Amino acid sequence: MTTNALPYSESSASKKEQVELMFDNISGKYDFLNHFLSLGIDILWRKKAVKILKSFNPTFILDVATGTADFAIEALAANPKKIIGIDISEGMLSHGRTKLKDKKIDHIITLQKGDSENLPFEANTFDAVIVSFGVRNFENLEIGLSNIFRVLKPNAPLIVLEFSKPKNFPIKQIYNIYFKFALPFIGKLVSKDNSAYTYLPDSVEKFPDGEKFIAILNKLGYQSCKNLPLTFGISSIYIGQKS
Ligand SMILES: C[S@@+](CC[C@H](N)C(=O)[O-])C[C@H]1O[C@@H](n2cnc3c(N)ncnc32)[C@H](O)[C@@H]1O
Repeated sequence: MTTNALPYSESSASKKEQVELMFDNISGKYDFLNHFLSLGIDILWRKKAVKILKSFNPTFILDVATGTADFAIEALAANPKKIIGIDISEGMLSHGRTKLKDKKIDHIITLQKGDSENLPFEANTFDAVIVSFGVRNFENLEIGLSNIFRVLKPNAPLIVLEFSKPKNFPIKQIYNIYFKFALPFIGKLVSKDNSAYTYLPDSVEKFPDGEKFIAILNKLGYQSCKNLPLTFGISSIYIGQKS
């Protein structure tokens, strides 16, 4: 299954190539815009996901689509021995590596270039896999989620944090105005990328959220799947375990 929102719709490049280019382009402004545009709520969402992660006592964690490593850094609260972050954007990884070095945690968290749809790890390797705001960007969602399933140890959890669509009045209406008009305007002004913050609401719109995402996890063999909507459903945490 392909989620078909594209950053640069006039380009003939694949979604993966476009996503990589877009994140390379905005990597210098990504952290600032992330926290500014979400009014810092993204930080609370990651903390909530890590609370769930901690309950699984993971020793070895993979953070897929790690970007600048914010979720990996937050995941240290679960006391793992090692975290590997992978991402297709060298620009995002390079900013992440600087943060890890500055915080002197680069011996616990290491970042490497890699694709969720072709994970360079043996089967049954990780005690947990985490993904924040990444799955929406995969070119082929099901291939990415199957690869993650393969590298998880039996019973180990996948914890996904992703935007979702609020359904109720008036949050739905307020959110639509903010997400479709205010956010692309500010995003373009700061990042200087004309498309990145138009792609964001577009990709959220086309993403199979809520029960549709749970149905995909079930179909791929994940068990005990749960969906926890956060902040009026603007974002959701999904949990599934390898059988
Ligand atoms: C919105 S950022 C999220 C970064 C980070 N997880 C966070 O919470 O801030 C999405 C990231 O997904 C990465 N990405 C997209 N498709 C990917 C794929 N197939 N494999 C690995 N990373 C991917 C992008 O390069 C980008 O860094």
